[in-house]
Amino acid sequence: MNNLIDVRIKQMRYESDNILSIQLVPIHTKLLPHFNSGAHIDFHFPHGKVRQYSLISPLQDRRYYEIGVLKEPQSLGGSRYIHEQLRVGDLIKISEPRNLFELDDTDQKVLLIAGGIGITPILSMWSSLAIDQRKCDLHYCIRQPNIPFIDRIDEFHIMNRNSHYVTYIGNQQTNGFDIAAVLQQEKVNTHIYVCGSGHFIQYVEAQALAMQWTKEFIHKECFKNPMTELLLASDQEHSLEIASTGQKISLLQTDNIAEVLNKAGYVVPMSCEQGICGTCTLRYTGGELHHQDMILNETDHLTMFTPCCSKIKSQHLIIDL
Ligand code: FES
Repeated sequence: MNNLIDVRIKQMRYESDNILSIQLVPIHTKLLPHFNSGAHIDFHFPHGKVRQYSLISPLQDRRYYEIGVLKEPQSLGGSRYIHEQLRVGDLIKISEPRNLFELDDTDQKVLLIAGGIGITPILSMWSSLAIDQRKCDLHYCIRQPNIPFIDRIDEFHIMNRNSHYVTYIGNQQTNGFDIAAVLQQEKVNTHIYVCGSGHFIQYVEAQALAMQWTKEFIHKECFKNPMTELLLASDQEHSLEIASTGQKISLLQTDNIAEVLNKAGYVVPMSCEQGICGTCTLRYTGGELHHQDMILNETDHLTMFTPCCSKIKSQHLIIDL
């Protein structure tokens, strides 16, 4: 696990009615660790929750990190706490940056697609592509007419003569953004980087696959997992078996497997609690699951799962712990 870093909130600024940008400066050192565009940090709240936020600060300036936080109407204490409780000067713990959404290092054209607050990791890519003068198009779907981060988008657009961007404003998910029309203009397997809600990502990915893109060229990061409604039985016992000890633990299909394991004394670290960060990922060697995450692929699912949101499907599941 990453070492935690103590930081102080140096600045909070509204980028729109419901999005705050927050600058964090280190307390014990002068500089913070390096990161690449697309990276995020874990933000450790005083009440114990952990949430991930993408870094939007300049890659080359390690004196501070900056994140952008949307106030979610259904917040369980993460974004609401930041908007309503945190103030400049407060001390927070964060993880070192991690990157599950890294830019490829070719010099090929890149297609960046953002839905709402999904602009945050994309913004970091946009700035890094500007530094490299790499060809890129940005498509940005957003609800509010006062477009968050538009000043930075303009700044890097002016800097990169090979860039082009379009915004789509309105209350619909895509607001006139026609992914099929966009992809028709591109070579098949142009690298696509898409970040937004699960539904938004599914819209982009389904169309790209239908137009012969292969999965490795569709890079995605989700900030909200639209988990499938499962028909689960809450009256039949299933069991987990711990491979190293042979211990058997009973549970219901509706139970949260990570919580069951934690109660039984097996420490399963959790962060997003919705299958989008990978913190809780475990291996299993027998049994079947309803996988609900947004990060593992079909091959991974043969041996790995995220116990924070996956549900047991078979009578018995052997966990490699
Ligand atoms: S805690 Fe994030 S995937 Fe399980």
